[in-house]
Amino acid sequence: MDKLQDAVDILKAYNQEHIIKLLQNLDEEHKENLINDIYNIDFHQIMELYENTKKPIDIKESKIENIDYLDKAKLSKKDLEKYNELGENIIRSGQYAVVTMAGGQGTRLGHNGPKGTFKLDVYGKGKYLFEILADNLKEANDKYGVVIPWYIMTSHENNKQTVEFLKKHNYFGYDEDSIFIFEQSDLPLVDTEGKLLISKDFRIKKASDGNGGTYSSLRASGALADMKERDIKWVFIGGVDNVLLKMADVTLLGVAIDKGVQIASKSVVKSNPHEKVGVFCKMNGHPKVIEYAELPEKMAEERDENGELKYGESHIMCNLYTIEAIEKCSREPLIYHSAFKKNSYIDENGKEVIPDAPNSYKFESFIFDAFEFFDDMAILRGKREDDFAPVKNKEGVDSPKTAKELYEKYWKRQAKKVREEV
Ligand code: UTP
Repeated sequence: MDKLQDAVDILKAYNQEHIIKLLQNLDEEHKENLINDIYNIDFHQIMELYENTKKPIDIKESKIENIDYLDKAKLSKKDLEKYNELGENIIRSGQYAVVTMAGGQGTRLGHNGPKGTFKLDVYGKGKYLFEILADNLKEANDKYGVVIPWYIMTSHENNKQTVEFLKKHNYFGYDEDSIFIFEQSDLPLVDTEGKLLISKDFRIKKASDGNGGTYSSLRASGALADMKERDIKWVFIGGVDNVLLKMADVTLLGVAIDKGVQIASKSVVKSNPHEKVGVFCKMNGHPKVIEYAELPEKMAEERDENGELKYGESHIMCNLYTIEAIEKCSREPLIYHSAFKKNSYIDENGKEVIPDAPNSYKFESFIFDAFEFFDDMAILRGKREDDFAPVKNKEGVDSPKTAKELYEKYWKRQAKKVREEV
């Protein structure tokens, strides 16, 4: 009884009265679970994050400059060979690992299940996003005579389904001993008035805390320790939803090694000044990605003397790190951003509400916010048609339809190339 009163007092103190009635009417088991959730929430942090959603984003105080990059298409044959050899040596010697971030909610796609379990309608019979990634890695394994350890990050919300799915599909032929699945951390969701949402199982509704959670989750889960045991020196981290993602790009690796930097990233040129992607720049002398919502319109449209967008290198979740860099990022706190998303919830009367428009804030740290911990990084500009076909939205841009087209076109070009080579 004391615990219940205690929980009620906490709820009152943080303006969460809407949960009290529900809590009082729950059976003992559900009541106990919800009370424990209430005890374990850092309300101070959540309320601060909620208050921040009302503040305008201001980057005027910072000194922003454009950042250097290498264009893969413009490299000389000699340089390309030099980079490829450097990269290949690392992969062949078993010092390379790959992480897939698959902890997102995929709210825009609206697929019922983890995004990696979405089947893209290619070649008639279709391919799952996880299958496409597995194929990309298996191709690299065959080419370099290794089995690249594959770390897959899930969330509390989708871990069970992901594990079952991969098992059911026999890991798409990937060596099971080389796969390490780990869960990322999460944070409560709040509505526009700062009220916590309740989930279907009468718990405080939480969601994964952004892809920036990858670093600390790699450490907390033991994945980082596992990498060290395997003598991994370089780690690639990529998303689950780009069907043209190259997870073992020897040129990118070679460029990073040659430049002597700890992090590197593949970019593609923004398709238009207002494309909804983050762009690379230098902020106060450090590498940085500015999210599309945070980039002032004038800067988004600024062009250099060659007529190219000054802030046109898009971040496509294709990042590479030394193991030391991962260790460093895992120990530094990242700032949280808020994303306004559609989330169902249980109302005061215990009824489920399924909104048809965004209704709640999800707090997320971004993987690229760690770039500023470093003095420099290497950026390799790839080609959109070769490197970037994301599955984000149900329809329109970056949808299954556009990804299917880009994927099939890419593989058609590859087949043609092979035919021309023989
Ligand atoms: P997005 O930011 O596009 O989010 O993730 P999303 O969850 O896939 O889709 P929406 O915004 O809800 O529609 C980019 C990559 O980061 C991963 C995603 O799985 C995807 O590979 N991610 C995102 C995580 O692993 N954890 C997170 O908390 C957020």
